[in-house]
Amino acid sequence: MKSLNAVRMSGREVFPLIEGGKGVSATNGASSGAWAVAGGIGTVSGVNADSYDANGNVVRQVFTGKSRQERHEELVTFGINGGIAQIKRAHDIAGDKGAIHLNVLWEMGGAERILEGILDGTKGLVQGVTCGAGMPYRVSQIAQKYNIFYYPIVSSARAFRALWLRSFKNVPEWLGGVVYEDPWRAGGHNGLSNVEDPLTPEDPYPRVMALRKQMNEYGLTETPIIMAGGVWCLSEWQDWIDNAELGPIAFQFGTRPLLTQESPIPQSWKDRLFTVKEGDVALNKFSPTGFYSSAVRNDFLQKLYDRSVRQIAYATAATDTLTESFKTGPVGNPVFVSAADLEKAKGWLEAGFTKPLRTPDSTLVFETPEAARMIQTDQANCMGCLSQCLFSNWSQGETGTTGRMADPRSFCIQKSLQNVSHEGDMDNFLMFAGTSCYRFGQDPFYANHFIPTVKQLVDRILTGG
Ligand SMILES: Cc1cc2nc3c(=O)[nH]c(=O)nc-3n(C[C@H](O)[C@H](O)[C@H](O)COP(=O)(O)O)c2cc1C
Ligand code: SF4
Repeated sequence: MKSLNAVRMSGREVFPLIEGGKGVSATNGASSGAWAVAGGIGTVSGVNADSYDANGNVVRQVFTGKSRQERHEELVTFGINGGIAQIKRAHDIAGDKGAIHLNVLWEMGGAERILEGILDGTKGLVQGVTCGAGMPYRVSQIAQKYNIFYYPIVSSARAFRALWLRSFKNVPEWLGGVVYEDPWRAGGHNGLSNVEDPLTPEDPYPRVMALRKQMNEYGLTETPIIMAGGVWCLSEWQDWIDNAELGPIAFQFGTRPLLTQESPIPQSWKDRLFTVKEGDVALNKFSPTGFYSSAVRNDFLQKLYDRSVRQIAYATAATDTLTESFKTGPVGNPVFVSAADLEKAKGWLEAGFTKPLRTPDSTLVFETPEAARMIQTDQANCMGCLSQCLFSNWSQGETGTTGRMADPRSFCIQKSLQNVSHEGDMDNFLMFAGTSCYRFGQDPFYANHFIPTVKQLVDRILTGG
């Protein structure tokens, strides 16, 4: 194993090992502070971070606003307070050791306000900001304003090129590194483009080389690329280390640090990680962001797959193929479906899926009355956690709506991730994970359900294991 030397990143001497930021509350002050103490870069998630009351208890985010806009404002306030609390905690733990980054999703509701609000309240405590999910053009200017480094997360050289040409080229001095997130292997939301096949993972090496070539063209020969997605142990990445062609390289871990003592996820989530088998993690397209995401295929996801299977095309007037009249409810005009689909619909109705729900793609999906009620309740409770939401049609623009029909094939990711991280219901909510997740059950390091401290994990990674 080649030894991994400390490098200068975000103005600090650190090991090129980064804790990938994970919302909602899957990385926080405790985990990132520990990661920084161990000599790497810890990342506080600024996505709905938890804040604490006077007794040190987590403040549960209860929304009282009557309108979505009012609740969105509450969410922004919670987000800022939580981010500040977690950064302060990370700093209390780490002091000047390692470095602390803040992660936000560009497509989260109020992203810029939350980012700036947290940075206003934590001056001097944050060394860098990482930002993905969308095209974070403005992150460079925000970083410059606060004198911190910025790390865009991209999944292709092309995405970086667009960001660079549009805005990053004006702020090269604060570009701390570029995170290449493998869109087939990394946990969480992924930047797979329309031309890439979700079922055909590509080798990261040529893609990262393409990114390096692009960066070299812009004079960024010394700017590190941070490899994220599918990185488990560095003995498998030996040819990437001290590779002159690749240039400076660092590694980001998202899935593996979920299982540490300091990891803030509930015990039931940690326990579940030991049971994941190869192939249990897959990309899906249900996220209300419209992005692909990588998660464990649990009951929750299975129900979404099943809902989408119980789907037929309809038209409001008969066509050559949609010939059969079908009533979607006790009132209103019938719609028209094909003869074959009418038979399918009858079968679903008989099986108890008696509520046909319209989708924006002129299809109907069939659900039980209970599930249909839950969909409507979740849509009504929306607090605008995304800039645009497919599930509820919320948009943070002036009108408060995307103008499109809400899509019942998606789900409320805010509710789901809050539940997973605070209630630990791992079957009925979304469990993000990278494809390497099955390795917890195979790697001897975790024998007898051993859960390392962050320091033990970082030491293990440093020795190649
Ligand atoms: C549970 C979970 C939540 C995540 N949440 C975020 C997030 O909020 N923002 C982000 O930029 N990346 C997020 N990620 C991606 C990680 O930061 C990291 O880049 C990725 O997990 C690396 O790949 P790996 O899962 O193979 O280790 C998340 C990953 C996981 C597993
Ligand atoms: S419905 Fe969409 S925007 Fe609203 S809270 Fe849920 S995920 Fe966020």
